[in-house]
Amino acid sequence: MELTHIAKTVMEKRYLRLKEDGSKETPEEMLRRVAGVIAGVEAQYGASKKEVRAIEEAFYGLMDRQDFMPNSPTFTGAGTALGQLSACFVLPVGDSLVEIYETMKHAALIHQTGGGTGFAFSRLRPAGDKVRSSQGVASGPVSFLRVYNASTEAIKQGGTRRGANMGILRVDHPDILDFIESKADTTQITNFNISVGITDAFMAALEQGTDYELINPRNGEVTGKLSAKLVWDKLVENAWKTGEPGVIFIDRMNRRNPNNHVEVIEATNPCGEQPLPPYGSCNLGSINLANFVKNPYTAQAEVDWERLGQVARMATRFLDNVIDANKYPLPQIAEKARRDRRIGLGIMGWAEMLVQMGLAYDSDEAVALGNQVMTFIKQKAVEESMALAEARGAYPEWEGSQWHKAGLKVRNATMTTVAPTGTISLFAARPDLPCSGGIEPKFALVFTRNQAGAVMLDVDGQFATIAKREGWYSEELMQQVAERGTARGVAGVPERWQQVFATSHDISPEWHVRMQAAFQGADGLPVDRQPVDAAVSKTINFPHHASVEDVAKSYALAWQLGLKGITVYRDGSRASQVLTTGDKT
Ligand code: CDP
Repeated sequence: MELTHIAKTVMEKRYLRLKEDGSKETPEEMLRRVAGVIAGVEAQYGASKKEVRAIEEAFYGLMDRQDFMPNSPTFTGAGTALGQLSACFVLPVGDSLVEIYETMKHAALIHQTGGGTGFAFSRLRPAGDKVRSSQGVASGPVSFLRVYNASTEAIKQGGTRRGANMGILRVDHPDILDFIESKADTTQITNFNISVGITDAFMAALEQGTDYELINPRNGEVTGKLSAKLVWDKLVENAWKTGEPGVIFIDRMNRRNPNNHVEVIEATNPCGEQPLPPYGSCNLGSINLANFVKNPYTAQAEVDWERLGQVARMATRFLDNVIDANKYPLPQIAEKARRDRRIGLGIMGWAEMLVQMGLAYDSDEAVALGNQVMTFIKQKAVEESMALAEARGAYPEWEGSQWHKAGLKVRNATMTTVAPTGTISLFAARPDLPCSGGIEPKFALVFTRNQAGAVMLDVDGQFATIAKREGWYSEELMQQVAERGTARGVAGVPERWQQVFATSHDISPEWHVRMQAAFQGADGLPVDRQPVDAAVSKTINFPHHASVEDVAKSYALAWQLGLKGITVYRDGSRASQVLTTGDKT
């Protein structure tokens, strides 16, 4: 493995384990540990020692070549006492004190293992509603959201990482307006992302300009009506101000869930890429697309389909094994995982693949290629899942599923996703070939850093390589790109590369949404042709001067193009922002 400085630091701090002799394992030893545990599962299905060894080598090679990385909990959990390997969980929140606090306890246990949790608060009776046992009044979903947030704050995460959460409320819940406003003060509820669960009925009311009904989940009674436009406007305005709430199209998620014959999805995991049923979980892993271009940076550049197909199949097998190697935090979760056998094969380094192919992110060609690449990976995942079903059996809930109806006997209820890959994309990056998270464009080409009073330039590995190769690299030029936060419009950068090296701020929100849609796939596709059968984690970036109307347009386009959800972020709209371009840092 050829790791960047930052990857080494992150690994050292949180991923490498102490060995029995008290010393820390090396990155290679970490990969060996993970490959060994995950390949060990093969023995349960009758593989000989020699066969297990061969699979272990294959798994090790996937990671060592930086072609594929499993999600963080697989690195930190494999072969340890906790042994929890998944990043994504959804827990149900029932409408009683016992259920509310039971689930809060369960969430704490999951956070302890590095997993993130999502919850729908939609089943809780609204604030002010009757509570029979105490003759009192209910405090409502938003107050319990605050309690959950405080619990996360109190426990944080020892050793691994802090637990992220997602809170969802259906748009037809009587407390929806309070929920939409609940994060207007950005110092509140900081351990949660929040999203509104938008129904088809709501979208129909919005299109027709009518009211829609609010329903008390305790008894199904209609408690009142609201104008769909008023709620939508409030939602969009808050998203414009602070980036939250996001939306998820909850009925679409359920309609397109291949396993919707046995489960109802109410929520997603924290970053939105996994719509999951109650007690649902998913282990993720992502392919580094930057490694799959032949003749990069030339007119003959092409995707290495053959090798991509092999890696996608082997990665699918890896993720299916993770289900059996996993030690689940709750019996209900273990049981569900063994019944639906969800896996989440995703990608990262998409921006770097595009640069090697000579395509600008904001181009029709790039959008078409995104759809083609993800559809291809899905096809390979389905092939491997079918082969696994042949050898090990279909997943127990398969009968009656959309897979069954399509005549496809598979081992996994869902297979593909696009995760943020916040940490594992660092592990996949090399000094000369970076790896941007998921399907995000590059954030910037040149960062400036103050080091002991001196201004240092951090130049994107691909940008530096090309500039040096073509002879237009200079400190002054890099400084200029850093200050502008883009190569576009910088005279010293050849026109072609100005286009190809698009950063997230160069790309209009519409292109961000179109790219997300290319990976998600449109409504109505057959189950094996949906490029992503879970969902896509993506941030739609806006410049600071964008208007509320601009955000509204993106939300509308998201609905129109078949997205399962959307999250926006307007530059500078939150006090703390991890990455900034220009020389502000
Ligand atoms: O790169 P890595 O595997 O560490 O994670 P990611 O792809 O950025 O995030 C995948 C999922 O892990 C998220 O959607 C969350 O469910 C979970 N996560 C979390 O719970 N807490 C974090 N601090 C980061 C991720």
